[in-house]
Parts: sequence; structure tokens; C-alpha cells
Amino acid sequence: MKMNDYIELVNDKLDEFIQIEYPNSIFKSMKYTVTLPGKRLRPVMCLETCRMLGGDIEKAIPTACAIEMLHAQTLIHDDLPCMDNDDYRRGKPSNHKVFGEAIAVLAGDALLTFAPQIISKYSENLPSSTIIRILNEYFHYAGARGVIAGQVVDIESENLDLTDLKAKEERLEYLHTHKTSDLFQLAMRTGAIIADANDEKLIAITEFAKIFGLAFQIADDILDEISSFEQMGKTLGKDKAEGKLTYVTLYGLEEAKCKLSCLFEKCYDIIHKHGIKSEIFEEIITKIRQKAGI
Ligand code: IPE
Ligand code: IPE
Ligand code: MG
Ligand code: MG
Ligand code: MG
Repeated sequence: MKMNDYIELVNDKLDEFIQIEYPNSIFKSMKYTVTLPGKRLRPVMCLETCRMLGGDIEKAIPTACAIEMLHAQTLIHDDLPCMDNDDYRRGKPSNHKVFGEAIAVLAGDALLTFAPQIISKYSENLPSSTIIRILNEYFHYAGARGVIAGQVVDIESENLDLTDLKAKEERLEYLHTHKTSDLFQLAMRTGAIIADANDEKLIAITEFAKIFGLAFQIADDILDEISSFEQMGKTLGKDKAEGKLTYVTLYGLEEAKCKLSCLFEKCYDIIHKHGIKSEIFEEIITKIRQKAGI
């Protein structure tokens, strides 16, 4: 399957999984951010990992869509005035700008529980032991040891008064791997689990996702500095203004680009070492490199 085929499949299913029912405002708010045109990288990487390891992608569709819903939840909450205070997302007004803060908070909460229900409800073609494994992955990466840990440390690192460079570097890697790598790890690990991958492959996939996610967040930090609203669909230049701890604010643009390049080399090393063959992953990496100018 080509990238666009995957995206179309995911978009159709997301639209189908979220139906508007009473109370309409919450379902409309959930559906609004989920169905805005995101890149759909996480569900695509879940499905592609499953395919690449010999699995049936049909069986991974509910999980892939659930992960995109979880991602939308993180975006809705990330944009709130008490977090990053962003007025735009995916080229349109942020969720709280359209539905108000109270409904946006509730829509995020609702997605967090709606998503795993999609997995348990629609994965009847998977053994129940696999469904339990996938749900455990979901709850781990969505929770206080996963993406939330990253978001907490991101917020607590704003305008950080820390002179110890080593401590700052460690903190930066921690927050980036949790706030961003964790959902890529969830996506790729669940794809691998559905394909019944062995432990060696699962470890390689996890390592790839961790490094890819870190690279993806560094690219996002670089693009916050060099890209445009038209390209990214969100207000840029805010990391510096808000005193965020990022690879660009800590090391400067050029060194951040070097680190990004280095991480993608590591991704390729894993691909070659473990015989992971995927034109989709290569296409995704190439696109990010082009955008970030490396
Ligand atoms: C945005 O993720 C949040 C980050 C981790 C930087 P994406 O750049 O994947 O956002 P969408 O899904 O395409 O909108
Ligand atoms: C967001 O990182 C990561 C999550 C939403 C979990 P950013 O705050 O840098 O993402 P953008 O730039 O708002 O998309
Ligand atoms: Mg943020
Ligand atoms: Mg943000
Ligand atoms: Mg950003």
C-alpha cells in the first residue's frame, strides 16, 4: 500500500468510528480535532509495521485509529491556555477556540477512554490475549509513565534556571522521548504485536520508534523556527517566546540539525541491521529531512 492509501483508509475509519450522538457538543468536539487533516503518521506506522512483519493490516485498523484518537487528545490538551496556549491546530482554530475550554478538556478526557474502547470493541478478529496486551501498551504509553510524563516535564522546564548543561541535556532527552517517542513506540509496538512478532523484532522496532520519535520532535522544534503557518498549520516561533526547552533553544539551529541527521542515521542502521524493509518509513524520513533542510 502507498502512503495515501493508508491515509485514506485511516480517515474513512476515523469518520466511521466517531458518530455524533447526545450530548452532541462532546462528540462534535472529539470528531473536530480527530478528523482535521493531520499527517496520520502514527496510525500509518502502526499499520505498516504490522504489514512489514507479516501481519494482516485489517486486524490493526481499530488499534491504529485508536492511537490517532489518543494523539488528537494530546493535541487538544497541549493547545489549552494552561498548556501551550495555541490558537491554531492543523490549519484551523484549536479545539478550545471552537468549543470553549470546558468542552475541550472534556473532549480530551473522552477521547482517552473512547480510543481503547474502539480497540476492545472492534478487534474481534484478534485473540483476547493479544487484545489485553495491546490495551496494556495503550494504558502505559498514554499515562503518567508515558506521554503525560513528557508533557509534565515539558511544562516544568519552561524558562528553566539550570546551569548544569548535562542535567539540562538529560531532562531534554527525557521530555522529548516521553512526549513524542512514546506514541510512536505505542504505534509500532502494537503493529508488531498484532503481527505476532518475536522478541528480537519487537526490541528492534521499539528502539527504532524511540529514536525516530526523538528525531521527529527535534524536526518539529527546528520547524517551529524556520517554517511557516501555511506549511505547519500552527502558530510558529512560540518555543523561544515561551522559554521552552528544545534542541533548538539549547543547542541552536545548526547543531539541532546535526543531531537530527545523526538520529536518522541511527534509524537507518536499525533498518539495515534487522532487515526492516519499508518504503513507507523511508518516504517518511525523506520528507522530514527535506522539510527540516538536512
Ligand atoms: C504534532 O504531531 C505534535 C508533535 C509531537 C510535534 P504531528 O506533527 O504528527 O501532528 P499532526 O498529526 O500531523 O497534526
Ligand atoms: C507536543 O509537543 C507533544 C504532544 C502534543 C504530546 P509540541 O508542543 O512541540 O507540539 P506542537 O508544536 O504544539 O504541535
Ligand atoms: Mg507542548
Ligand atoms: Mg504545543
Ligand atoms: Mg512544537
